[in-house]
Amino acid sequence: MKYKAVILDLDGVICHTDQYHYEAWRTIADELGIIFNEDINNRLRGVGRMQSFDIILENYDKAMSEDEKLFYTDKKNSIYVDLLHAMTPLDVDPDVMSTLSAIRARGIKMAIGSSSQNAKMILHKIGLFSFFEAISDGTNITRTKPDPEVFLLASEYLDIDPPWCIVVEDAKAGVDAAKSVNMDCAAIGDAADYAPATYSLGKLSDLLKYL
Ligand code: G6P
Ligand code: MG
Repeated sequence: MKYKAVILDLDGVICHTDQYHYEAWRTIADELGIIFNEDINNRLRGVGRMQSFDIILENYDKAMSEDEKLFYTDKKNSIYVDLLHAMTPLDVDPDVMSTLSAIRARGIKMAIGSSSQNAKMILHKIGLFSFFEAISDGTNITRTKPDPEVFLLASEYLDIDPPWCIVVEDAKAGVDAAKSVNMDCAAIGDAADYAPATYSLGKLSDLLKYL
């Protein structure tokens, strides 16, 4: 067996909540009159909430206090959480669901490795909270991707050393995080053509041929 564990990012890999992040940040950027587009949004993939806002503020020409930053990041999160409320198990693509089942059938352990503080709520909503052996998310890390902390914690929770783990990511920051600690990385979506990744996936089920 080449890998003993698969560590999966959540937003943009298991479900399409990356679109909701985009929508919520766009509302905030519009309110502040800041330019915001897909290219800027792609830089926010895998990056924590406050760090994401700092990237958005690169295009803001006024000063913003820490209190104001908190106000806007809280507001972004309320908009985002409202969008999450309508989610159900039907938001998991059939290709994703069948791939997760196939990985489990092969006896390979699975964990979530996400920078999001909303990860557990999303997993409950899509009916996958109990599916994974471990969840490492934005509530237990001190540094966001590209720091590898979230993946190292996942490998620790699973009790499987990094070289036996493969990470699945749609964020370039996530690919960098995995590679920096000797984990192979299968990249999908926005990161699919990112050269440092070990494998490029068109859809999640492409992963099965590399396990
Ligand atoms: C994931 C997403 C990022 C998001 C981060 C924090 O990594 O890819 O776009 O900023 O989680 O999410 P949160 O739900 O805690 O605001
Ligand atoms: Mg992601």
